[in-house]
Amino acid sequence: MKMAANLRPAGRLEVPVPAAGLTTSRAPFIEQARARGELYIEQPYEQYSEENHQVWRSLFQRMGPRWERYANRHFLAGVRALCLNPERVPRLEDVNRFLSPLTGFRARAVSGYVPAFVFFDCLRNREFPTTITVRPPAQLDYLPEPDIFHDIAGHVPMHTDPQFAAALARFGECAHTAAERVAGIAGAHERLQILTSIIQAMARFFWFTIEFGLMREGGGLRAYGSGLLSSFGELEHALASPSVQRYPLRIEWAINQSFAIDRYQPLLFIVDSFDHLFRQVDELEAWMRQGKLDHVAPGEPEISEADLASFLRNAAVHAGPADTLLPNTH
Ligand SMILES: [Fe+2]
Repeated sequence: MKMAANLRPAGRLEVPVPAAGLTTSRAPFIEQARARGELYIEQPYEQYSEENHQVWRSLFQRMGPRWERYANRHFLAGVRALCLNPERVPRLEDVNRFLSPLTGFRARAVSGYVPAFVFFDCLRNREFPTTITVRPPAQLDYLPEPDIFHDIAGHVPMHTDPQFAAALARFGECAHTAAERVAGIAGAHERLQILTSIIQAMARFFWFTIEFGLMREGGGLRAYGSGLLSSFGELEHALASPSVQRYPLRIEWAINQSFAIDRYQPLLFIVDSFDHLFRQVDELEAWMRQGKLDHVAPGEPEISEADLASFLRNAAVHAGPADTLLPNTH
C-alpha cells in the first residue's frame, strides 16, 4: 500500500520550523527575488524570525520617548494614525489600510535598490518603495542601507500628513521635468553631464529635506526627516548638539552640498512648514527648467549608471526612439 508522502506517523510531536528570517543582507527570499530581477515583491510575513520581531520591538520602544521630545507633531499624529504595533514587525497591508484613506499614499515592498527615476516616479504616484528586511541585532544604531524600521517607522508616519504628502508627490513630479529637460539636449556627452548634475541636485535636496529635514514648531525646532526619526542617537544629536549647524533651507545651498552617509550630519536645513517645503519643491522645479541645476558642485552622492539609464529611458519617451538617448551599456 502506498502512503501519501505528507502523512506523518501518528503520535509524533510536530517541531515548528524556525522562520528563515528577513534580516538585512541575510535574507534568501530577497536574494532570490533580486536574482529573478523582481523589484516589486510580496512581504512574506511568515518568514520574519522571532529575532526580527525582537529587533523591531527594541527599536520601537526606545524611540518612543525621543519621538515625543524631538519629532514634529505631524509625525507623532502619524504614528498614532497608523496604529503601529510596537511588538511586531508591521504588515504593509495593515499599514496601508490606515494610510491610504488619509493621503492616498501606500507602502509597496521592494527587493532593494530602486533606480532614481523609478523611485521618484513612485512618489509621484503616491507609492513608497519600502524595504521589508530588518537590521541585524548587532546593528541597532546604524545601518548604511534602509530597513523596514527606517522606511515604515521613519518615513511612513510623515505620509499621513496631507501637506507633507503633497510636497513629496510634487517632488516626484520633478523627475519627469528632468527627463523632459534632458530630452531636449542634442549632444550625448552634454546630456549625460547635465542629467548627472540634475539628479545630484535632486538627491541632495531629498537628503536635506525628506531624510534629514528640521522644521520650526512652537518657537523651537523639531525633526521631520526620516533619517533622523529612525535613528536613536542622531535624532537627539541633530536637535540638541551645539556642534550641528542648523540653517533655514536655501535651495542653492542644499543642491551644492555634498554629504556623507556614514556619520552624523554636521549641517541641517530648516523649513517653516510643509507648505513652505512644497513651495521650495516648486522653486526647485523652476530652477531645473531654467538650467540652474545643470552644473552643481561635484561630489556626493555618486550617480550610478542605473540611475542615469532610468531617467534616459523616460527622456526617450519625450524625445523619440529610445536608442537615441540611452547610453551604450553593451
Ligand atoms: Fe530614507
